[in-house]
Amino acid sequence: MRTEILPIDEKSLRLSKSIIDGGGAVAFPTETVYGLGANAFDNTAVEKVFAIKGRPNDNPLIVHVHKDYDLSELVTEIPEYAQALAKAYLPGPLTMVYKSRGKVCPAVSCGLDTLAVRVPLHDGAQKFLKYLNLPIAAPSANISKHVSPVTAQHVFFDLDGRIELILDGGKCSGGIESTVLDCTGEKPVILRSGLVTREMIEAVAGSCGEYVLKEGEKARSPGMKYKHYSPSCDTKLFRFDELEKAVDEYNKSRSKGVEAYVLCDDKTAELVNVDNVLNLGKTGEQIASNLYDKLREGERCAQLIIAIAPEEHGGVMKGVMNRLIKACGN
Ligand code: TXA
Ligand code: MG
Repeated sequence: MRTEILPIDEKSLRLSKSIIDGGGAVAFPTETVYGLGANAFDNTAVEKVFAIKGRPNDNPLIVHVHKDYDLSELVTEIPEYAQALAKAYLPGPLTMVYKSRGKVCPAVSCGLDTLAVRVPLHDGAQKFLKYLNLPIAAPSANISKHVSPVTAQHVFFDLDGRIELILDGGKCSGGIESTVLDCTGEKPVILRSGLVTREMIEAVAGSCGEYVLKEGEKARSPGMKYKHYSPSCDTKLFRFDELEKAVDEYNKSRSKGVEAYVLCDDKTAELVNVDNVLNLGKTGEQIASNLYDKLREGERCAQLIIAIAPEEHGGVMKGVMNRLIKACGN
């Protein structure tokens, strides 16, 4: 199969519709990462998305809808706090989990009685979703466990020959996946940290829990238990108080002729002061926005040594650190 990358216009939207209506999958941009979308009412199409990615079949997908879509068609029981959060942050990088009406096909939620729904902010995503006027089930458009894609070229690298069409909406500005929030209980519970931070949720909903997977427990958000976001090279993460160890590791590798790079932020770049650096930037937002692009750039070398200062940059760093810990396999 030939994989085309096209800008988002009438012609590519028409082609998207014929692919989706024919039970296929289309990659599209969002403000977080690129998604690989299929019709959420078509079980075979959704199963195909799992197969294309090599995704474990117990890790449910998020359904994406345009901003005027009537959510009550898909879910029941939208609590007041969720309505307030939706008003404050949607469209945007916040996925909300509700009780499902069971209207979308079973493969989407992998048999759970809940449904994760997201209304992306990206103009290209809105155009795509509006044109189709369907709930679109979409995981990130990468091979399972690899680094999520933030450009059409990243999607092409992973999925060339496996899908027909990538809608190109430029580089995703947010850079890490949406916050996943369980809205089925008395108060919201964060299942995956992201760009809508705990502080932002508390500011609207009053209180907010955070789900931590305990040993031996069945995951409430099944994606939590998998290694994820991983570059293909050797990757080591060092805490801010271990910077010396990071520099030692770098020097050791370099002296053996290993092509090592340090992935850092502005502050740690100054402190480690080595030749091969990939700098993520200064603020939490810049770091999140550059993270996957730099991880993909970095994986072309032999070893990636990650040394950043999370406490410097506020709530967004929780999501960034969560991705980095998973990328390094802990
Ligand atoms: O920003 C994003 O969320 C991107 C873009 C494409 O929208 N999508 C994304 O999808 O990151 P994916 O499949 O890579 O991650 C979906 C996460 C997984 O951790 C999954 O376990 C969780 O959402 N999830 C999906 N449905 C759920 C449900 N019903 N209950 C709990 N967690 C759910
Ligand atoms: Mg993913």
